[in-house]
Amino acid sequence: MLLTTQVAFLKMLLTVCISNVHWIFDSILKSVRVWVGKREQVQFQTDVIGVAKNTKNDAERTPKENVTTPTSVNYHFTRKCNYKCGFCFHTAKTSFVMPIEEAKRGLQLLKEAGMEKINFSGGEPFLHERGDFLGEMVRFCKEELQLPSVSIVSNGSMIKERWFKKYGEYLDILAISCDSFSEDTNRAIGRAQGQKSHLDNLFKIRSWCQDYKVAFKLNSVINTFNIDEDMTENINQLNPVRWKVFQCLLIEGENVGEDSLREAERFVISDQQFQDFLDRHSSITCLVPESNEKMRDSYLILDEYMRFLDCREGRKDPSKSILDVGVEEAIQFSGFDEKMFVKRGGKYVWSKADMKLEW
Ligand SMILES: C[S@@+](CC[C@H](N)C(=O)[O-])C[C@H]1O[C@@H](n2cnc3c(N)ncnc32)[C@H](O)[C@@H]1O
Ligand code: SF4
Repeated sequence: MLLTTQVAFLKMLLTVCISNVHWIFDSILKSVRVWVGKREQVQFQTDVIGVAKNTKNDAERTPKENVTTPTSVNYHFTRKCNYKCGFCFHTAKTSFVMPIEEAKRGLQLLKEAGMEKINFSGGEPFLHERGDFLGEMVRFCKEELQLPSVSIVSNGSMIKERWFKKYGEYLDILAISCDSFSEDTNRAIGRAQGQKSHLDNLFKIRSWCQDYKVAFKLNSVINTFNIDEDMTENINQLNPVRWKVFQCLLIEGENVGEDSLREAERFVISDQQFQDFLDRHSSITCLVPESNEKMRDSYLILDEYMRFLDCREGRKDPSKSILDVGVEEAIQFSGFDEKMFVKRGGKYVWSKADMKLEW
């Protein structure tokens, strides 16, 4: 009897112990689950909020917010020129021209980085391979890269009608530079070659633009030689889509200072003189004025090695080539002021298809 009671007691004690152990294990397990759960939640928060945080941090540095998009690029692919404009700020410091396949690779990189408009400049862009090098880049940019706008700025002296026949359809805008409607003044400036008439060329190209459906633009640099001129009648006759009027600009190492190939100080005019010229031409609605302040940092300039040129210090400091480091890295050293680009009217209707022109 005693034994039976003892066994029953022991059994009960064991049951209590087991249930306690079970409870203890259960509690421990619950705690572990809660702890693991919390860890997972913490991990989740770290991941998600952390990613959000990282995105925010990245956003402070990402292309969209801080890195410039190369919407409109000026590619000065050659520095050689047949003219000798005394104020020129992009001079023949090298004779290098990128091989065409490399130039196309660079243009492709720019397109991938967001380029919409390319302007080919120089030096004189029609000089190299008699304009065929330029023509092939123009065709490539319009036909293969499908850029909305392809333009050229030229002194006009080397352009032949055969060029328009071959490449005209791929070109949106052709800008010709002319600083005076007096042949003598053009010659005094250096905007001439031999006895050829700069003005005859200008008017001939104007009519080719009409014939081959290319929008015609005019560029003039206002300087001490042409400051008193009234160009109204001639501009009305030429009827360009835009008339860019630049205040003569000095750039260290190009047209002023040591190592420069030009001495342009004698061409420089004051802000007031520039304003007086603008006032005299206020009836011309296509006039787009560019003072020194507006001009200096509002262009994305790519040199013959496909390096961006930073003009902020009043000289042209080159980045690394986009062919070596890519557009995103190189553009950080371009000194480009996007706000000023917009302020100077850098974005406009730049595809000839959108220009409602009478051809
Ligand atoms: C460097 S040129 C190259 C293209 C071509 N040779 C021409 O003269 O049109 C590009 C543009 O810059 C303008 N330019 C040159 N030197 C300048 C300066 N010191 N200040 C303002 N514009 C200038 C030219 O008149 C031209 O419209
Ligand atoms: S501004 Fe005159 S010298 Fe300079 S690249 Fe143009 S045409 Fe040549």
